[in-house]
Amino acid sequence: MRGYGLRGQVVSFSMRLRPLISLGCTFLCAFALAQDDGIGDPTFPTLGNKGYKATHYLLKLNYDPETAQLKANVTMEGVVDPSPLSTLSVDFSGFTVSAVKLNGASATFTRSGAKLRVKPASPLAAGSKFALETIYSGKPELIGSAALPPIYKGGWVAYPGGAVAACEPDMSHGWFPCNDHPLNKATFDVEITAPRPYVTVSNGIGKTIGPTTTHFTLDKPALTCMVTVAVGKYGILKQVGPNSLPITNYVPLGTETQYIEPLQVTPKFIQYLSDRIGPYPFASYGTITFPDEASKSNKLLEVMALETTSIPLFSPGSSKDAATLCHELTHQWMGDCVSVTNWGDDIWWVEGFAQYSEFMLAEMNGGKAAYDAAIKAAYASVSAQSHWLKPGHLPAADMFSLRSYIGGALTFHALRKKLGDEKFFQVVRQFVDKHRYGNASVKDWIEIATQVAGEDMKPFFDTWLYGDAVPKLPS
Ligand code: ARG
Ligand code: ZN
Repeated sequence: MRGYGLRGQVVSFSMRLRPLISLGCTFLCAFALAQDDGIGDPTFPTLGNKGYKATHYLLKLNYDPETAQLKANVTMEGVVDPSPLSTLSVDFSGFTVSAVKLNGASATFTRSGAKLRVKPASPLAAGSKFALETIYSGKPELIGSAALPPIYKGGWVAYPGGAVAACEPDMSHGWFPCNDHPLNKATFDVEITAPRPYVTVSNGIGKTIGPTTTHFTLDKPALTCMVTVAVGKYGILKQVGPNSLPITNYVPLGTETQYIEPLQVTPKFIQYLSDRIGPYPFASYGTITFPDEASKSNKLLEVMALETTSIPLFSPGSSKDAATLCHELTHQWMGDCVSVTNWGDDIWWVEGFAQYSEFMLAEMNGGKAAYDAAIKAAYASVSAQSHWLKPGHLPAADMFSLRSYIGGALTFHALRKKLGDEKFFQVVRQFVDKHRYGNASVKDWIEIATQVAGEDMKPFFDTWLYGDAVPKLPS
């Protein structure tokens, strides 16, 4: 498989192991569901909490790759909403918690499953602001996800010589206490201390604040799973993007020269996308290519690229692949700036549009002929099947499968054919603009497409997203 081989690799496993995974979920949900659990995502019923909204996280981390010990002090600032809370529960697993403070005062807490429950002395009033500080330490443990076959585990991934956090869709609570669902986007400050000569990096704009400490600020709301930290031996390659956008690339120390040429596509494609779907949404960009030791020690990291906000992650080599580089870059608009409302119903437009951007890259480089050839190959591979991929409603195990990537990408191609270039990009631009820094769903696509097209577009989306038969491409 060409451009999507790297990410597509997850596909075959998830398809084979699907029955096993869904059994596990039914079992778990029946036993673990407590009254305060779950923000309401049908695919991940116990994830998150709808009783409050985290607005900002301050993560103070101290990590020593030699001992693989993480010491953390995490403050979640939030607002209680909509009813008073007698228990504040957050998603969190692993580590030893030494203290929890609520609004500065020591608070009692319990832990069970993947929840940390804090009991305020008296209920928190509806609408009140709170600060929850959790102090913990230990050796980070990997966690799994219903979206991934059991051999893939993520969260804070330690490897000999460093660590990198890879968490999509629901593994962030394996290393920090959070409301671990896309409906609760928040801003982040991440302060990381590691001994020399390790380099530390996280999302947003970084500065050095001490001999071995850096501070990164992400001032636009991000998904918990799109927050990353990398500690390792990195060399740095800087670039400048459109409108003086600072771009910082972290590549394995000593391999810098191998990446100079492949990374040239980034500023060009930022410009290309900005011209079509709107300005790049964050104050900085960059990439982290983690070293061989990382991908050798963890299956998930073997083949992974991930759109962590403003600074996507790449397995070694995958950031030399222009299609993969541009795919994760496109996610900055689609997935990071505008995010899902629930995983199963919205992942198609996140992965589908990022995959579609690989066709746009072919078009940027080789014009219409190259674009048509890429589409033809993708459509041929699926139209030979008796069943359509119908990407619109996916079980956890299919979230990162051909169904979302190729089914979603072809849906965007069909939309472009139906509307023509001008109206198609108008729809995408309006979608990103209207929902920037928030969440959106298929309803929002239908609404904007209908308005731009001047005709009811629901039948079109029904066919491409939910129909059983392989749809015919509009002529
Ligand atoms: N969003 C990633 C991509 O751009 C998906 C990688 C699949 N693995 C995962 N843990 N989510 O393709
Ligand atoms: Zn993707």
